[in-house]
Amino acid sequence: MTTTHDLPQAKYLKDYQSPDYTISHIDLEARLDDMSTQVTAILDIERQGNHQKPLMLDGSDLELISISLDGIALMSDQYVVSETHLTVYSVPDKCQLRIVNQISPVQNKSLEGLYKSDGAFCTQCEAEGFRRITYYLDRPDVLATYHTTIVAKESEYPYLLSNGNLVETGSLEQGYHYAKWEDPFPKPCYLFALVAGNFDKLSDEFVTASQRQVQLEIYVDQGNVSRAEHAMDSLKRSMRWDEEVYGLEYDLDRYMIVAVDFFNMGAMENKGLNLFNSKYVLADKKSATDTDYHGIESVIAHEYFHNWTGNRVTCRDWFQLSLKEGLTVFRDQEFSADMGSRAVNRIQQVDLLRSRQFSEDAGPMAHPIRPEKVIEMNNFYTATVYDKGAEVIRMIHTLLGQSNFRKGMDLYFERHDGQAVTCDDFVQAMQDASGIDLEQFKRWYFQAGTPTVSASWKYDVDQNQLTLSLSQRNDSFPENKPSVIPVKLQFISEDGQSIAINTQGDQSQVLILNESTQTFQFDRIESPVIPVLFEGFSAPVKLEQTIPELDLLRIVQYAQDGFARWDAMQSFCTRVILTGELSYFDEHKSLYQALLQKLDGDLELYAELLEIPDIQTLAEQVDEIDVFQIQSQIDALKESLANALSKELIEAYHLLNDDKSQDERRLVGVRALKNQVLLLLAHSSEQDAISELAKLQYTSSDTMTEQLGALKAAKVANTSLFAELMKDFDTRWQHDGLIMDKWFGLYAQVDDDDTLSRLEKLQSHRSYNPDNPNRVRALIGQFIMNNPKQFHRPDGKGYALLTSELIRLNESNPQVASRLITPLLSWKKYSQPQKKLMQMELQRLSEVDNLSPDLYEKVEAALS
Ligand code: TRP
Ligand code: ZN
Repeated sequence: MTTTHDLPQAKYLKDYQSPDYTISHIDLEARLDDMSTQVTAILDIERQGNHQKPLMLDGSDLELISISLDGIALMSDQYVVSETHLTVYSVPDKCQLRIVNQISPVQNKSLEGLYKSDGAFCTQCEAEGFRRITYYLDRPDVLATYHTTIVAKESEYPYLLSNGNLVETGSLEQGYHYAKWEDPFPKPCYLFALVAGNFDKLSDEFVTASQRQVQLEIYVDQGNVSRAEHAMDSLKRSMRWDEEVYGLEYDLDRYMIVAVDFFNMGAMENKGLNLFNSKYVLADKKSATDTDYHGIESVIAHEYFHNWTGNRVTCRDWFQLSLKEGLTVFRDQEFSADMGSRAVNRIQQVDLLRSRQFSEDAGPMAHPIRPEKVIEMNNFYTATVYDKGAEVIRMIHTLLGQSNFRKGMDLYFERHDGQAVTCDDFVQAMQDASGIDLEQFKRWYFQAGTPTVSASWKYDVDQNQLTLSLSQRNDSFPENKPSVIPVKLQFISEDGQSIAINTQGDQSQVLILNESTQTFQFDRIESPVIPVLFEGFSAPVKLEQTIPELDLLRIVQYAQDGFARWDAMQSFCTRVILTGELSYFDEHKSLYQALLQKLDGDLELYAELLEIPDIQTLAEQVDEIDVFQIQSQIDALKESLANALSKELIEAYHLLNDDKSQDERRLVGVRALKNQVLLLLAHSSEQDAISELAKLQYTSSDTMTEQLGALKAAKVANTSLFAELMKDFDTRWQHDGLIMDKWFGLYAQVDDDDTLSRLEKLQSHRSYNPDNPNRVRALIGQFIMNNPKQFHRPDGKGYALLTSELIRLNESNPQVASRLITPLLSWKKYSQPQKKLMQMELQRLSEVDNLSPDLYEKVEAALS
């Protein structure tokens, strides 16, 4: 709670102190009830070091019923309870504390701690949710073994689940039953989980490399088992991959996943009992897109990989979050790349980084991947900690090479299995195992902001020599010291041949830029070459290079690396859009023509090559964002291309539509490119032809990917067709909120006079539920992120709509509120009147009573 004299307090990394007490074991019992669940915790506590400090346990929204120490009830002068703590003044060096408290899961809309999702009880404890269940040392460096007893009504809650192994079940009086679980691996409380409900279960089995049998179980809402199969397959592939690539096996006899509808984020890696947003479990071709399938595969892998990078080796404190998240994202990215198209995976990761992380790193909430100051920990599950964190691990991988990187991982586990450690411990293991000095590299862990690398080169015909000059700077943090930047480089000739880069004949090389300015010389370069810099995006930087437009297009045409091709295409389009300069339109057009005529190979990559950068990505390239100006340039480019290429696009569409391949990988590519072609066409003036194609695609296809593609095209090309198809979709899927999220998301992106009133109306649609974060993100989230012209309306009504939603969520679910506020935070970068209007909304928010620490932290940072 916030009042003027009780402002949320920041915590600093530099103040870290090891705990005064540890808890080695907890015996936890939960008697589940909607309004008053009774929790009994028996804690084995031991003093650490030589001190007589009181024992201070964390607790929040708890009602204490009783407390006893080594079997004797405490007198009221022996302890004190506050809003945030239970303090016991004096305890022996070793003791057992028994605490009984009550909580009300049904009233908990924050989806943190113990809450109800539809009919089921479930928990979310990361980062600091365990303190909403019982009094505890709620910090990741306190590791305990757990024994958990769950008691609930058998008819309503046939399944009672917790971490580890099931050791006992039984019936009780009055229709109640119980289950006892034991988790042998000491863990921090953020990995605790408990679930009670009535589910359908998909079961399978996995035999580990050392021949142990693991029971796999996915729990879903009744009637949904067939939609869990892709998740199960993904899980088995992840388990195999971690054995093959890292030699890491699963360590318990059972691995459970529970899908719930009410969930703040993607999923949670609780030991042996993952909880998932149902969005990342449920899929079939009729109701989920290929993108959804891909997302499920990667989130399932991510949570599974946490079992070693996160659970077996965990974080010392929350400032070290990237220790587990950056590393685990890197691992899931590599898994996805191995399962599908490496180039397309890389493109999508970089696209996300540029549109989300770069703006975060340039805004008021900028922080290094290891933050140093935190008010609300939930605010630091960010693109920076996760995705830039993964890029930092990737750079270590690039600098060390696969084999040394693996040695480093082995050493990390050898040293730290069962411990709570820091990012420095990780880097130390990498350094010791490889013999490569990473001292300067560590700056990536404490310097925020995106470095800009500027590159220029000169070719000396007489000497057959190319000189490349590179320099680095950080525009948001000019005082930063130079980072270690691996620059993966390739040369291609002007007619597209790959040119050996050094005397060993290598096709590519990694240069190390670790000073402000450096030059590199390349000898025996027989003819002029085009350098392809940052191949595979070898460092999370912005690149400024004086490269002619036509050379960019040559890279698109000829480079071996799919990522490099896309990246050059993005740079080219960015220049066209930001300068409004159409001098190379013919070349651009013929390149696309050639692409559309060659419908073999990686079609998903072609779809990416046809993707025009969006306003989020472009915003990072300008000093001042004029939304209407940039968006109209984007639209103009799309229109010109669509009209100039309509014949080729229609031909390609038909060829793709007639593709009779049986190969699922190929079909994913066919669908991606077909949708992309149709969407581009929708910007042309051939409205009738496109409407016909879109309608036919919607009605005749049996995949959600194609139906959604048709809807998106209709939305651009034909308002009445769009309305007709949307009505059909609503009738068909209104019973399923998860599927309706696609529909809410589409309407949220419609740009017309009725946008705002439509949004209001949709909030009382029968499939909408304001307490469900997926619905809110689908409607409000899509509106603020992907409807630039309506959100940034010059009358300010788009911003006002967001603010009312934030004020509502501030009370019920501050975590979700705090994620939605993002677009307002970078108000300073916008032109007027947007800038002033956004500032006013932030001001309004800062005056809200009881502003949650989540919003407080961001609003204050943005206004200061
Ligand atoms: N650790 C989780 C992951 O990355 C994410 C997570 C953190 C989370 N806090 C959460 C998920 C709160 C749901 C709710 O996999
Ligand atoms: Zn994670």
